[in-house]
Amino acid sequence: MGRVIGLRCMSCGRIYSPDEVEYVCPRCGPIKGTLEVLYDYDDLKKNLKVADIERGPLSQWRYLPLLPVSGSRGLPRLRVGWTPLYRSKNLEKDFDFGELWLKDDGLNPSGSLKDRASQVAVAHALEKGRDIMVAASTGNAASSLAVNAAPEGIRTVILVPERAPRAKLAQLLVFGAEVYQVRGTYDDAYDLSIELALRKGWYLRSTAYNPYLGEGKKTVALELAEQLRWKAPDWVVIPVGDGCIFQSVWKGFRDLYRIGFIDSLPRLIGVQAEGCSPLKKAFFEGKETVEVKPVSTIADSIMVANPRDQVKALKAARESGGTFISISDQEILAAIRTLARKEGIFSEPAAASVVAALPRVRELVSDGDRVVLLLTGNGLKDIDSAMKSVDRGPITVSDLDELLGKIGG
Ligand SMILES: Cc1ncc(COP(=O)(O)O)c(C=O)c1O
Ligand SMILES: [Zn+2]
Repeated sequence: MGRVIGLRCMSCGRIYSPDEVEYVCPRCGPIKGTLEVLYDYDDLKKNLKVADIERGPLSQWRYLPLLPVSGSRGLPRLRVGWTPLYRSKNLEKDFDFGELWLKDDGLNPSGSLKDRASQVAVAHALEKGRDIMVAASTGNAASSLAVNAAPEGIRTVILVPERAPRAKLAQLLVFGAEVYQVRGTYDDAYDLSIELALRKGWYLRSTAYNPYLGEGKKTVALELAEQLRWKAPDWVVIPVGDGCIFQSVWKGFRDLYRIGFIDSLPRLIGVQAEGCSPLKKAFFEGKETVEVKPVSTIADSIMVANPRDQVKALKAARESGGTFISISDQEILAAIRTLARKEGIFSEPAAASVVAALPRVRELVSDGDRVVLLLTGNGLKDIDSAMKSVDRGPITVSDLDELLGKIGG
């Protein structure tokens, strides 16, 4: 069980053995030639039982039979995954949803969903005897790699865009990563990471290039289904940059469906920023790849001009009967506040985008539908944006008289 039997190219359909190809389809190249990880689904269907999973640890390692690592050389020890799924108390009523749920992945060790992918990549590197890893990242993928690699003794070399928020840089440096800030955008850092890893022979953890990352991210879907007692929700709403989380959520639900653990599939809604919505545009124009144009948004984690998982993400949206929507930076800032004050969850801008999208999501769903919002990153990651989202700052006082003069009520 859990053995990868092949890697299938998303464009030409060719299936490679895992020993034959490490990253992308050699014929189709990056973006078009992203690979899908295949397991022996017949064997899993016959031999894997719900109870086997439920007996596992309270972390993403409970899904080991559905992951591309054997665990034979030990597994990285940080507790990644098994994050809370809350029924929304207030937003559900305010926006008139039948059922609204919040999956708080900002509670992972480095504060984002990316820990799921990085931990699987680190486990994979350990099994392959690789001890240096390279990643390009808007910030979270890299900081999650630094956090998960440090205790395993793996050296990390990180390329980030000039604009990465300081908290993400601080995480990287504290966990001992070697950090290079690339003059330019995330897209520039990404291309450089591939050149560097191939030149040096180091193991690359850059989204969509490395096929195993999505397998880590898919555990959020496995968890959601389990937390809902092995039922898929009707809809999952997901912030989208490269599209890797989006396609991985779809892969996770499809894997569970194929092995008979769930009997329906959700529809996926991808949320992009108005200033950066190449996937939404391609989706509505019926295209399979995006047109690359300059982009800008306050939500740095989803500021991606050329989404590297675009082929899989567009396919996932279409196959699931889902869609893409976009929201403005002002709506994102307001949503950080709303989510915190209504539900007690502090999210970074990219994650709060799914809350900003609620009015539009409500128009798409039916009255009784069960809707899950994926909250992908913690608010402490980007304090500057958080400060912009609040309506008043602290008031300075020296003594009781001044305090009584200024205090309301
Ligand atoms: C907090 C957060 N949300 C959403 C995303 C978007 O994920 P993807 O690039 O896989 O679409 C990222 C990616 O960096 C992220 O860090
Ligand atoms: Zn191919």
